[in-house]
Amino acid sequence: MQNDLINDIRQRVDIVDIIGERIPLVARGKNYFCVCPFHNDSNPSMCVSREKQIYTCFSCHATGNVYTFLERYENWSFRETLKYLGDRVGISVGVGNLEKRSSKFDKFYEAYQLSVKYYQNNLVSSLGREARNYLASRKIDDAVIKEFSIGLAIHGNPLTELLMKKGYSLLELNRLGLSSDDRDIYHDRIMFPLQDMNGHTVAFSGRIYKDHNQNKYLNTKETEIFKKGQMLYHYSVAKEEARKEKCVIVMEGFMDVIRASTIGIRNTIALMGTALTTEQIMFIKRLSTNIILCLDGDAPGQEAMLKAGELFLKENIEVKVVVLPNDEDPDTFILKEGKQRFMGLIENAIYFSNYKIRALRKKVDLGSDREKALYIDKVLEEASQIDDEIRVEIILKKLAKEFDIGYNTLEIRFREKCENKTKPASLMITSSTKTHKTKYIKAVESLIYFMLTKDFVLTATKAEHLIFPEEKYRITMNEIFYYYEKYGKIEVADFYTYVMDKKEVRGVLDEVLQEEYESNVDNVLLSDLYKAIRDNSLSLEIRRLKKKIEEELDPLEQAKLGEQIRKLRIGD
Ligand code: UTP
Ligand code: MN
Repeated sequence: MQNDLINDIRQRVDIVDIIGERIPLVARGKNYFCVCPFHNDSNPSMCVSREKQIYTCFSCHATGNVYTFLERYENWSFRETLKYLGDRVGISVGVGNLEKRSSKFDKFYEAYQLSVKYYQNNLVSSLGREARNYLASRKIDDAVIKEFSIGLAIHGNPLTELLMKKGYSLLELNRLGLSSDDRDIYHDRIMFPLQDMNGHTVAFSGRIYKDHNQNKYLNTKETEIFKKGQMLYHYSVAKEEARKEKCVIVMEGFMDVIRASTIGIRNTIALMGTALTTEQIMFIKRLSTNIILCLDGDAPGQEAMLKAGELFLKENIEVKVVVLPNDEDPDTFILKEGKQRFMGLIENAIYFSNYKIRALRKKVDLGSDREKALYIDKVLEEASQIDDEIRVEIILKKLAKEFDIGYNTLEIRFREKCENKTKPASLMITSSTKTHKTKYIKAVESLIYFMLTKDFVLTATKAEHLIFPEEKYRITMNEIFYYYEKYGKIEVADFYTYVMDKKEVRGVLDEVLQEEYESNVDNVLLSDLYKAIRDNSLSLEIRRLKKKIEEELDPLEQAKLGEQIRKLRIGD
């Protein structure tokens, strides 16, 4: 890999711009702070340093440079990230410029690619006539079939046979969820490929179209490359579209997403009929914080919407909600009512809290004063969670009108509710959340930090020949020396790129960058650090010898060991 090119590009972009374009940053002192996108955060725990060109989260300990940020945030590969940043600064990153970083899953992805091709061929072949008619009856035309790579599984076990001919073992095919023993998993189903966050096909969902005695959809089992809790249909496409539209629409089934694309709406993802997970929420949040839930109009769909909305609220996001007529899903609604009506619904999506209030309202028995009072109380409770005075006022006014109660009476009650609320935890991160580190570890971490920021520390330390009992520190030190020798200079942010795949070193760096350090290093400080590191080795050695004494039976040997300990103590 061409490190020069990578470092060159990195030095021409500013991490503050790159992160700031995605997450609001607040300046504080020399640094910028934001809500960390890599854990369920509501406080600004991520610090972005313009000077060092790195980010650090004090809460989840995510750290890195502009490359690691984009890879994680955008779910891009390193090549995609490099290309993106290269384009920004006008450096062309040709394919030939970089050797391909192959993934250990490449062979698996390839098996799925072959399967998709194979299923697609079936659909256009003479065996596919009935399936094509079925799709046509559902108004899925050739363009859609192509866009979503829809295919067909036939009878027998042709896929297993084909892939075995291509060199896949039965073991692999079983692991991949493509075969069960030596048989195909899917027979006589219309096949919808499912993609992971990066657009690799990693699973299928197969729909029945002639035999109605089976489950409507059959999905691939969980595998190493297909995790259901992380699956969101259409995510890799919606990524771009949601950014353009500044909004993402969440639907229940993939047929809904497919139908929406026929009217040009592609900032959509589907949950695939499962309950929303926190992991999925994290992914959805990255597309846009303007999230519209548009699940099925039936009772289970409405129930799912309430649950999902609550989960989003826990992550401090209030979603909007579209309510479809009962018995409609986006697919059938669009077919019946057309594009304009559907767009109308999306544009008029209501806030989740208003949706909740409406759901509550349906359950109240208006003949009972007690129930009315309870309802009003609940509405005020909901309103007290809303961060927008105008919206609150609208809700209170409506309530006052509907139940013929004085607005002031409601407002007083509302204020009481607000006062009882505990305010969210303060924004600053206290040091108490940090784990306690020994003097030795603090010394090693400071030393590593100074080595990465001051050349003279690096040279001086090399001459010290320090010994580290922990392998992770030994590896880190060696990598730093190696890097410096090879490139003649070192910068934290570039070093990050270099150790991207070296898990151990990254772990150490993550720890190191959590701490604050002196800005001036002199020889006195350095000797203190060296001493702390040597003292640690010393006490370890003494402890080892003491243990040996305890195990030693021969008094003479014991005495020898005792002598050794004494010498160590006096520094001989
Ligand atoms: P739906 O039953 O709402 O599917 O299930 P749909 O989108 O309306 O499909 P059509 O119109 O009948 O073809 C929503 C999602 O739940 C999952 C699928 O992922 C589907 O997209 N599901 C549903 C299954 O996994 N298995 C099933 O048997 C049914
Ligand atoms: Mn449907």
